[in-house]
Amino acid sequence: ANNADDPFPIWGTCMGFQLLTYLTSGENLLTDTNSTLVSYPLYFQQAYKTSKLFGSGSAETGDIINILSKENVTFNAHFYGITPKTFNNNTKLRTFYRMLTTNYDDNGKEFVSMIEAFKYPFYGAQWHPEKNNFEFVAKLGPNLHHSADAIKVTLYMAQFFVNEARKSSHKFKNATEEAAALIYNFPVVYTAGNTSYEQCYFF
Ligand SMILES: *[C@@H]1O[C@H](CO)[C@@H](O)[C@H](O)[C@H]1NC(C)=O
Ligand SMILES: *[C@@H]1O[C@H](CO)[C@@H](O)[C@H](O)[C@H]1NC(C)=O
Ligand SMILES: *[C@@H]1O[C@H](CO)[C@@H](O)[C@H](O)[C@H]1NC(C)=O
Ligand SMILES: *[C@@H]1O[C@H](CO)[C@@H](O)[C@H](O)[C@H]1NC(C)=O
Ligand SMILES: *[C@@H]1O[C@H](CO)[C@@H](O)[C@H](O)[C@H]1NC(C)=O
Repeated sequence: ANNADDPFPIWGTCMGFQLLTYLTSGENLLTDTNSTLVSYPLYFQQAYKTSKLFGSGSAETGDIINILSKENVTFNAHFYGITPKTFNNNTKLRTFYRMLTTNYDDNGKEFVSMIEAFKYPFYGAQWHPEKNNFEFVAKLGPNLHHSADAIKVTLYMAQFFVNEARKSSHKFKNATEEAAALIYNFPVVYTAGNTSYEQCYFF
């Protein structure tokens, strides 16, 4: 679709990030990188400077890079990851994606934490940009931060990706079909007592 000038952005979070690396390389390249319920700053790699996510040079982006590189604002909840060594050793991966950032897991093993495709609007984060704003459940522990800066990070990623989605011309066939598909049709249930999520939708 993207090759035919039909913008179709993809964002992979956590296992979605892992899936993107599988789809591009055709291999399971994951290794143990136990980072459970912990927030880290990001280690920016050279490639971020020429990226769409972080390369704009705007004051807002500068502020976000500053926050991301210093504060514990990226929440990790994974047992697996992909090391920079594996990433760089895989021709398919390193020619398809820029490695924007890395992190070190609880045992000091480095893993890739953000990627961005060179040619396509495809983005991946091993951490969870969405949780800072919305998840307060006790099960996630004390390391999920809700500071003003942590919230800025979530909003930055959301605004960025929605702006990518705005380039898409896909729409429903008609208003009836659109109305039937809207999330507002489905009940949202408060599930903090039983799950790691404040709310769940049931279909
Ligand atoms: C992952 O790390 C957590 C926290 O340090 C620890 O409790 C858990 O046992 C570890 N799990 C694995 C599979 O290593
Ligand atoms: C980030 O969290 C770690 C513990 O996971 C802590 O050692 C470190 O001091 C924190 N850094 C900041 C800047 O808060
Ligand atoms: C690098 O890739 C080659 C084959 O693609 C593989 O044989 C080798 O084990 C890899 N090395 C590392 C460090 O991953
Ligand atoms: C809207 O599209 C659906 C599916 O293509 C079709 O079944 C329906 O008749 C259409 N409704 C209107 C009001 O055009
Ligand atoms: C967990 O879910 C069950 C029903 O699915 C409900 O009866 C129970 O009250 C819930 N527990 C909490 C703590 O919310």
